[in-house]
Amino acid sequence: MSRSGSGLVLGIETSCDETAVAVVERGRRVLANRVASQVDLHARHGGVVPEIASRAHLEQMVAMAEGALGDAGVRIDGIEAVAVTRGPGLIGCLLVGVEFGKALATSRGLPLVGVQHVAGHLDSPWIGRDRDAWGNPVTEPREEMACVGLCVSGGHSSIVYRHADGRIEGMGETLDDAVGEAYDKVAKLLGLGYPGGPVIDRIAAEGDPEAFALPRPLKNKPGYDFSFSGLKTAVRREVEKHGAGSAGPEECFVRDLCASFQAACIDTLLGRCERALADRRAEALAVVGGVAANRALRAALGERFGGIRVAIPDFEFCTDNGAMIAGAGWGVYTSGVRAGPRLTAMAQLDIASPPAAWQG
Ligand code: KG4
Ligand code: ZN
Repeated sequence: MSRSGSGLVLGIETSCDETAVAVVERGRRVLANRVASQVDLHARHGGVVPEIASRAHLEQMVAMAEGALGDAGVRIDGIEAVAVTRGPGLIGCLLVGVEFGKALATSRGLPLVGVQHVAGHLDSPWIGRDRDAWGNPVTEPREEMACVGLCVSGGHSSIVYRHADGRIEGMGETLDDAVGEAYDKVAKLLGLGYPGGPVIDRIAAEGDPEAFALPRPLKNKPGYDFSFSGLKTAVRREVEKHGAGSAGPEECFVRDLCASFQAACIDTLLGRCERALADRRAEALAVVGGVAANRALRAALGERFGGIRVAIPDFEFCTDNGAMIAGAGWGVYTSGVRAGPRLTAMAQLDIASPPAAWQG
């Protein structure tokens, strides 16, 4: 029996509130991508409750792995390697995936690799069911190129330079809230439920983005860092002026405020990308993470960066998933780097750290 050579990696992701397992061939072709979202469990609390999330991961983990193998039509002995998110994330959540990955790899004699979560997101444009986000068939080797990468999610707002060989250089970070977190907090303020991104995306489409003059934080400062907490505070002030809690999603005030907030976020994100692309003389931009699912952001990217190759993953690979971990894990595995049975979960793990540092 030779499992090496199948090129199949089982990717495990549990850093936040999605229990996700996928099977990906040679870091490119997604054969299975199972995601158990915990949104319903956290919605009544208005955000992710770490203890509830860890417990739900524990309850879902085995069934998700079995389901992903079933979807891919393979048994565990057809898998060549296991890849798992080591960090950053909620420590109790990460632990479930890491311990499961170690147990599976050890009991089956499979190689194991740890993956940095944001590096996983940054690999998501190169995976797909048929074609990747660059438009290339996933049955062919990946087209390697240098690009500016923007990772925007509930936990991260990072801008990086990704070299053609996959090396990642950090350029900018959020100094306070991540952009997805700002969406979630603004939605909570407006009583729109959790998560905030999809609902604001929908409501904003019917509002006037110029109705409220909201700030563009750090706009005139040099560098690539972000800040979203001041924007969130500006939204809170408008809500207080209007009369807190009195408006529903059908009201013009809410639609206009959502549209103005979204316009400020998009303006800020695109401004930083523009600066990074110019400074690096880069010809390609990859936008990844949960907020990359935002329809207005996707449309604005197309309009503003005509001369640049812009890659945005399919919706299914924007929010947290195991396929991106398997995709990035394939690169780690083929480079010969391995994790051992002592692999630990890390709440903090730098995006610019090399893959060898993901294995401790
Ligand atoms: O990547 P992800 O699943 O988890 C993290 O690594 O954080 O991203 C989740 C975040 C949430 O904050 C959610 O509100 C946001 O992505 N999000 C969106 C949209 N869909 C999800 N934000 C804006 N527009 C969307 N359509
Ligand atoms: Zn994520």
